[in-house]
Amino acid sequence: MNIKTFGVVGAGQMGSGIAQVASTFGYDVIIHDINSDCVKRGIDNIKKVLNKRVDKGKITAEEKEKILGRIKTSTDLKDMKAADFVIEAANEEEEIKSQIFKTLDSICGKNVILATNTSSIPIGKIASQTNRQDKIIGMHFMNPPPVMKLIEVVRCLNTSDETYNITRKLSEKFGKTPVNVGDYPAFILNRILMPMINEGIFCLFTRIGTEKDIDTAMKLGANIPMGPLELADLIGLDTCLAVMRNLYTGFNDPKYRPCPLLKRYVEAGWLGRKAGRGFYKY
Ligand code: 3HC
Repeated sequence: MNIKTFGVVGAGQMGSGIAQVASTFGYDVIIHDINSDCVKRGIDNIKKVLNKRVDKGKITAEEKEKILGRIKTSTDLKDMKAADFVIEAANEEEEIKSQIFKTLDSICGKNVILATNTSSIPIGKIASQTNRQDKIIGMHFMNPPPVMKLIEVVRCLNTSDETYNITRKLSEKFGKTPVNVGDYPAFILNRILMPMINEGIFCLFTRIGTEKDIDTAMKLGANIPMGPLELADLIGLDTCLAVMRNLYTGFNDPKYRPCPLLKRYVEAGWLGRKAGRGFYKY
C-alpha cells in the first residue's frame, strides 16, 4: 500500500505532535479539528517545537519550512477523503470517537486504514461503529510524540494481518519502535503507568509528602525522568482520569479506582500544563 497523505483527526497535543512526526518523515499531512482556533493552536504548537529545534541547530530554517509546508489544515472531516491512512487523536471519550469513526467510514476510500490513538478505549468497540472492521487498528503514540520512541500497535479481533503489518511498517518509517499489544483496557503502557500516577496522587491525597517530595522520590529513587505528578500534568489530568475510569470499568476491579483528588482537580479545571494549573502552576 502506497501511503503518501497521512490524515490526523484532532489537533491537540497528541494530534499536533503526530502530524509533526509524519511531516518530518516526508508525508503530506492533513490535520483536522472542529474549528479554526483549535487547528491554529495545533499548528502554533508545532511551530514552537520546530523553532526550538532551529535555535538549537538540530534542523535548518529551510527544513522547518518544508515540514510546515507539508501540513494542510482542515475543519471539515470530508477533507480526509484525500488521505491514504487516517489516525484519530480526539478527546478520550467513546462517544466522540465513535462518531468520528462512523463519519470517516462513510468518507474515506474503502482500502484506507483508520487508526485510533486511544489510550484506553477497546479498539473492538470503535471498530464496531464501521463497516471495515478489518481495517481498524490502535496506533498509540506516547506524549510528546516527536520524542517518545514507542508506538503500541493494538489489534482487535477483526483487524487483518495486512492492516497490522502496514501499521507496524509505518511506525518504523516514523522512526519508532512498535510493540504488538492485545485489545484490553489501557493496553500495556497505561495499564502499568496510570496506576503508578494514581498512586502518586493518593500519596498527595493522604499527605504523606508534598508534590515535590513525591516527584523527587520517584525521579531519584526509580530513575524516571519525571515524577508521577509532573507527568500527570504533562499528559493532562482529564486523560489520566479517563484512563483510570476505563481500567476500572473494563476490568471491574476496585484496584483501579481513580483517586478522589484526581476527580476534584479535573472538576475544578486543573487539567495540568495545558490549563496552566494542575499539581503545579505554569
Ligand atoms: N514536543 C517535542 N519535543 C519535545 C517536547 C515536546 N513537547 N518536550 C521536549 N522535547 C524535546 C526537546 O526539544 C529535546 O530535544 P533534543 O534532545 O533534540 O534537543 C528533548 O525532547 C529533551 O527535552 P529537554 O532537554 O527540554 O527536557 P528533558 O530532557 O527533561 O526531556 C521529556 C523532556 C522528553 C518530556 C522527558 O522529561 C521525558 O521523557 N518525560 C517522560 C515522558 C513520558 O513518560 N511520556 C509518556 C507519557 S504516557 C503517554 O503518553 C500515554 C498516553 O496515552 C497518556
